[in-house]
Amino acid sequence: MISVVLLVQSSLVAGIDINRVRKQVASYKDVANRIIDLSLNGAAQNQSYNRLATFTDKFGYRLAGSQNLEDAIDYMLEALKMDQLENVHGENAVPRVHKLPMLGLGYSVGTGPQGIKAEVIVVKSFDELEKRATEVPGKIVVYNQDYHGYGISVRYRASGAAKAAKHGAVASLIRSVTPLSVDSPHTGMQVRWVRGEQIEVFLNMSAQNLPNKISRNTVAEIKGSLYPEQGAMDDGGGAFISWQALSLVRQLGLRPKRTLRLVLWTAEEFGGVGSQSYFNEHKLLKQINASNLDTGGEGTDISPWMKAGVPGASLANMNQQYFYWHHTNGDTMTVQDPVAMNLCSAVWAVTAYVVADLDEVLPRDNHIHVRVALH
Ligand SMILES: *[C@@H]1O[C@H](CO)[C@@H](O)[C@H](O)[C@H]1NC(C)=O
Ligand SMILES: *[C@@H]1O[C@H](CO)[C@@H](O)[C@H](O)[C@H]1NC(C)=O
Ligand SMILES: *[C@@H]1O[C@H](CO)[C@@H](O)[C@H](O)[C@H]1NC(C)=O
Repeated sequence: MISVVLLVQSSLVAGIDINRVRKQVASYKDVANRIIDLSLNGAAQNQSYNRLATFTDKFGYRLAGSQNLEDAIDYMLEALKMDQLENVHGENAVPRVHKLPMLGLGYSVGTGPQGIKAEVIVVKSFDELEKRATEVPGKIVVYNQDYHGYGISVRYRASGAAKAAKHGAVASLIRSVTPLSVDSPHTGMQVRWVRGEQIEVFLNMSAQNLPNKISRNTVAEIKGSLYPEQGAMDDGGGAFISWQALSLVRQLGLRPKRTLRLVLWTAEEFGGVGSQSYFNEHKLLKQINASNLDTGGEGTDISPWMKAGVPGASLANMNQQYFYWHHTNGDTMTVQDPVAMNLCSAVWAVTAYVVADLDEVLPRDNHIHVRVALH
């Protein structure tokens, strides 16, 4: 999994004048409004969602060590350059190995040891399958049916494969017959395709751990105007929100004093620490209801930095459904919301820009951990 950190590379500055900082933060009101407007209503509306959709559709699973992951990283490096971010480059990293669960349906026909590789056609219903029948031959039919209760939706499991085969599909897959699934494909029987004799089915699925490979962390920056060697980094609910944070700053032609760096950590996830009263005192983000600050921001990818005293921050969005999809095959664009991504991107861009542009450098103090909560 790829995720992000914007991290504050600060030098140790003791005795910050908090009132001065508050005053300065308040002076960013206009810039915060411009960022929010660009993200919510302007040319950047849904940009992050659309970028993420393109990315996930193009690359699908990006298993650590896989060619898909490396192709995805190459794509991101190009895309970040196209977005006119600076110092875009990859930094070698060794990914962790992640095992994927898989389940076959009862009465499945196995793929054979060679497996099946074919283009996919996604349909929402049998009606759609019939309408698009001419596109089916040679492809893998994916039933992405809505859940209308078990009794109704289970027909796709029961006879989906047979109907797909009738139209010349080489295989079929179905979305689990459930309104909710957590890292657990749901299996079950299919209707037997019996004409006289019983059909014998043999399933042979194998998985293996491949040797560790070098992968890359993806890095992009907006170079600081005054202190380019001091960076501001932060993390959030996702790579694309953090990309968008830099992108929004770039699209408005803004350049903070310190460098903003986006790091798309390969093969792991996320989040961070920060500042204290700045944002809740001054409510830069009040209009989008993101003025709550919690302590205790964190994240796997940035925790080593935070332990070393580097201030970090993490974005806490409305997370109630996060663990429904966390690390599951259900974690697809279906469960993403463009409006939420616009809001998160705006919060993150304002946070990153202000922190990177403050005259004062955030103290290296790992007792202050701040989460910006979007409610
Ligand atoms: C952004 O997404 C929202 C929600 O899906 C939609 O209503 C709106 O029309 C989209 N805006 C653009 C510019 O595509
Ligand atoms: C299952 O498939 C593997 C290769 O994927 C093969 O080596 C093995 O012999 C198969 N097992 C059986 C029982 O056919
Ligand atoms: C913020 O909260 C107010 C009051 O609950 C609501 O009317 C408004 O739509 C919210 N704004 C956003 C961007 O969610």
